[in-house]
Amino acid sequence: MSVFDDVNNWEKTDGANLFSSILNVNDPVILDYGCGSGNYSFAAAQAFGQKCKVYAVDINKQCLDYVSEKSKDEKIDCIIPVEGREDYRHEFEDGFFDLIIYADMFHGEEKTYNGLHRFVMIEEAKRTLKEGGILAVLPFHLSNFRDKNKKKCKYTYKKLIDEISECGFKHIEKDLEGIHFEKVYSPYYQQKGGVTFDSLERGKILVFEK
Ligand SMILES: C[S@@+](CC[C@H](N)C(=O)[O-])C[C@H]1O[C@@H](n2cnc3c(N)ncnc32)[C@H](O)[C@@H]1O
Repeated sequence: MSVFDDVNNWEKTDGANLFSSILNVNDPVILDYGCGSGNYSFAAAQAFGQKCKVYAVDINKQCLDYVSEKSKDEKIDCIIPVEGREDYRHEFEDGFFDLIIYADMFHGEEKTYNGLHRFVMIEEAKRTLKEGGILAVLPFHLSNFRDKNKKKCKYTYKKLIDEISECGFKHIEKDLEGIHFEKVYSPYYQQKGGVTFDSLERGKILVFEK
């Protein structure tokens, strides 16, 4: 079994369970913003069968092509690849989504709005979620964040929870874990012989209600 088989298996098991335990809606509309290789989109599709719609947004066309190809291979037609915007605004109307997931999207790199793009993303989540809709955030790189004044600042889960709550979300305590999939697709690690599924970093998924 390759790490890719393990990842596919995760999407159908633990990944799907993750989404079922976050959201109790029959045919939800979901946004996976910055979907990358789409692991969270596929897990959501597995959780709700083909009844849901998952908008998989990324600015990188290669990611969207990868998601499209994999959807075809797996005969999944509820995932809709959408091109993202430089400014992190969503091309969706107000109150459109039941669930938005931002997996590994927050960090403090200067090139992305001085690391302040998360504030735009949180604002857009507030706008495009339905009342009672769920925002799920899986943050990594917490030690590399910036505060509102663009200053490098070590974050903790608590500090991020407080910040998102201040933007009008209600934190819901859940014991959920997500996976940092980046290394699976990284040419650097592939050249070094790849990674094992068990060695991938795990992190807490923070859940909020609008
Ligand atoms: C660290 S990866 C996370 C991928 C995926 N969410 C995961 O957890 O495996 C960040 C992704 O965000 C995408 N991205 C960066 N800027 C974006 C933007 N302005 N709009 C949409 N996607 C963007 C990148 O192309 C990349 O695929």
